[in-house]
Amino acid sequence: MSIEDRIRSIFPDEADIPEEFRLKYPVIQKEYLINGELRIWGGRMQEVLTPLYIKTLSGLTQKIAGSYPWLTKKESLEALQAAVQAYNHGKGLWPSMTAQERIQRIEDFLVQVKSKKKEIVKLLMWETGKTYDGSLREFDRTVDYVNKIISAMKDLSNISSGFISEQGVTGQIRHVPLGVVLCMGPFNYPLFETFTTLIPALIMGNTVILKPPKLGILLHYPMLTAFQRSFPPGVVNTIYGESSDLLPSLISTGKIDCLAFIGSGKVADMLKSRHPKPHRLRSVLGLEAKNPAIILPDSDIDLAVHECLRGSLAFNGQRCTALKILFVHREVADIFLNKCAELIGKLRFGMPWERDVFITPLPEPDKTKYLTELLEDALERGARVMNVYGGTVNKTFFYPALIYPVNAEMRLYKEEQFGPLIPVVPFDDIEVPVEYIIQSRYGQQVSIFSNNPEVIADIANILINQVCRVNINSKCQRGPDLFPFGGRKDSGEGSLSVADALRMFSIQAIVTAKRTDKNMEIITKIEKDWKPGVLSAEAVS
Ligand code: G3H
Repeated sequence: MSIEDRIRSIFPDEADIPEEFRLKYPVIQKEYLINGELRIWGGRMQEVLTPLYIKTLSGLTQKIAGSYPWLTKKESLEALQAAVQAYNHGKGLWPSMTAQERIQRIEDFLVQVKSKKKEIVKLLMWETGKTYDGSLREFDRTVDYVNKIISAMKDLSNISSGFISEQGVTGQIRHVPLGVVLCMGPFNYPLFETFTTLIPALIMGNTVILKPPKLGILLHYPMLTAFQRSFPPGVVNTIYGESSDLLPSLISTGKIDCLAFIGSGKVADMLKSRHPKPHRLRSVLGLEAKNPAIILPDSDIDLAVHECLRGSLAFNGQRCTALKILFVHREVADIFLNKCAELIGKLRFGMPWERDVFITPLPEPDKTKYLTELLEDALERGARVMNVYGGTVNKTFFYPALIYPVNAEMRLYKEEQFGPLIPVVPFDDIEVPVEYIIQSRYGQQVSIFSNNPEVIADIANILINQVCRVNINSKCQRGPDLFPFGGRKDSGEGSLSVADALRMFSIQAIVTAKRTDKNMEIITKIEKDWKPGVLSAEAVS
């Protein structure tokens, strides 16, 4: 079958879906968690459409995954009230617990989450269209991240239970919580990215309002009881609904102490501006990016092609770290394009459960329309599609398009496509990509492909002051998760490696005393008659 025919018939009959991947019944979530109670919602419900269509007698029908409560301002303010009360100015049960006790609760939570792996992974696949293997990887990576956070927390607690002395003053530095954190993850990594802010926030003693992304809500449903069982009332509260309706009223109370948000800069700016005292709001933000790759004439072209395609097309290009524009030196442009086009033709596309599938349908409504507009704009301004059938659409499916030559007049030059479009810009002078990066609104990562140490060093020295990570001969990516991850300019605020995350969700405070005999006697006594809290030498194992 030709590629075109395979695109035309990409969506299956219900009966063709292997039993283990089938979504037998729609998942109807009526509960939401506030103040430790699973409340039953009697109001409007919101349907969850999957990115997958099914053949029916009346034609292709978009598969429904289920529905969830469409809460209002009233419930979101109740969630806030519960979180504020549970924090109780830092005197609440959760912020007063020892690190050891909080770690135990997180471990207990993780055991319950692991027992729901199958359900969560299946919903992740259906709601986002991510491949089954990719969904499994996201789940395992999340578990691994939580374990790493636990071990980083142990290290931090053990270090901060010691004392320091300087100029006749002795002191103990503690990392204490911020207060109430509003946690919102993105649809592309609805589990992993949400947990990379949720778990550090919780382990540091903050209380949380969790709003899962609209595309990727139901996969959190199997965890609701685990949240309820593992944490004291009000420590985790969940809200669902229209962001523009729920969030401004939450922030404008001034009672949110930390905004942990992975999404668009426009929403982040709007939310931050609503806080009555913006300096009181700690922001941990992962925003847009347009990571470029620079392919130099002396690079290993096969390696560059392989990495650039994985970088631009993994999860259909829907990664904040995806390569979103490729600058290829004119001397190697033809060979690079030919090899890319050939390799794209070999990528498997289809339904997320199919073996070795790489390209799958897209979950965002009207996404294929937007990508088509970008593509048409580039074609009108002189670019060509370099791979066969590139840009062919069937409902939510968009076949990857390699587009060349792209220039500054085209929308694709600047807009973050977040999809399977690969714009390629030819250059003769390295100043072209360097100047692009300097002038860009974004500053997350860059990839450089070359075998010349001197050239790499020169470019890396310039670009390290523009972005947060320079990748040599490899695609851009977040992992390993122990490495710092962040963005400059309009790409983010704060850093989220495992160790950094604990610091992002806490503040350093110190208890000090002049080293007089009397003061040392008091401190030793507090330390000896161990009570959890400051000046104790609490060891976490
Ligand atoms: O979308 C942003 C993700 O955190 C990127 O993670 O680079 O490992 O795909 P990744």
